[in-house]
Amino acid sequence: MTMKKLDVLAPLRPHPALEHKLDELAVELTVYCNLKCKMCSVWELKEHGVPFELAKKLLEQARALGATTFTPCGAESFMRKDFLELVEHAHALGYRTQDIVTNGTMINDAHLDRLERCPSVYLHISIDGPREVHDDLRGEGNYDKSVACARECVRRGIRVGLSGVLMRETLQHAFHLIDLAKSVGVREVSFQPFQEEISGPNKDIPRFSLVRTPKERIAARLAELTAYAKDAGVTIFTESMFGVVPDYLATGKRPIPPGGCYLPSKFLLVDFRGHVYPCFFMRTDADRMGNVYEDEITDLWHGVHHKQLQVLALSERCPGCLAACSDVDSFAGKEDEKVVYAPAKGHWREGEAG
Ligand SMILES: C[S@@+](CC[C@H](N)C(=O)[O-])C[C@H]1O[C@@H](n2cnc3c(N)ncnc32)[C@H](O)[C@@H]1O
Ligand code: SF4
Ligand code: SF4
Repeated sequence: MTMKKLDVLAPLRPHPALEHKLDELAVELTVYCNLKCKMCSVWELKEHGVPFELAKKLLEQARALGATTFTPCGAESFMRKDFLELVEHAHALGYRTQDIVTNGTMINDAHLDRLERCPSVYLHISIDGPREVHDDLRGEGNYDKSVACARECVRRGIRVGLSGVLMRETLQHAFHLIDLAKSVGVREVSFQPFQEEISGPNKDIPRFSLVRTPKERIAARLAELTAYAKDAGVTIFTESMFGVVPDYLATGKRPIPPGGCYLPSKFLLVDFRGHVYPCFFMRTDADRMGNVYEDEITDLWHGVHHKQLQVLALSERCPGCLAACSDVDSFAGKEDEKVVYAPAKGHWREGEAG
């Protein structure tokens, strides 16, 4: 089967998503971390992102474009001394949700006092399995610290969820996250599959990867997990993506939500160098819309390059991905629809595609 070559110079066809306002701004505030988890290489980068005043300006501009969700990301946000000042600024600007994925080990009572005063904050504390599994990956004593943080959030009424990674050594322990959520009083968990984007190429990938595991085995485990969570009254945020997880883990096939991905039409990422991208996974030089040290995000948002990147995603020609930061909403309710997979790297030939 042949497909027409993309004519980047052709006028963009109207699509309602192209008129969408910005919903979410993600900023890699830091790639410093206090831990050195075995399945992650983000901590190796060791740099802070944009400085405080620029981060504040980005929050203001994104809010003016319509954003109501702020997602500080990178490695461990609490490594930045000005982190909570930015969270407070975002809250004062009217952001309604601040999704903070954290290892939870650096959060002390003074931090919790401040977080408690910002109801837009939603902490997502990462737990990889029972104590021995978690601490083997993350370092001795960290499981207890993270669980204590989750408990204290629940006690204080700070919104909190638990985040797990589906990998070879945690798949069999995934039920633990549900049990833990129930016992701590957390109502939502999230599972994302192991990704080489986060591990980097130099970690012990065969230890974590489920490539060549029978897909049926993974699917059966996910079905059990879904039923178990339902019984426990715990919601799985990423459940709508479970149908494509076995393929992703076992064969590396990268799905695009049926009907195209809307994320670039409602989201902007500013990485730790200030580069601006349309999502977490379109991050080649060609996907870079600009840099916040030189460009205004308002101009980038309204620019032609942004429109072209949106069209790629909406017409199912992006690289595909599967993570808690994918367009989870675009998978919801489409479990029976045909999923498009991005072509495997190296399978494209100039002017032709299968
Ligand atoms: C890179 S961390 C940054 C936030 C924070 N430091 C933490 O650990 O929660 C973001 C999420 O990625 C998860 N993660 C780490 N290594 C991963 C990998 N190789 N594949 C998929 N997720 C991974 C973490 O457990 C965490 O939930
Ligand atoms: S997973 Fe999170 S806590 Fe662990 S090293 Fe990576 S960034 Fe740090
Ligand atoms: S790479 Fe993922 S998040 Fe990005 S546009 Fe494609 S499906 Fe959406």
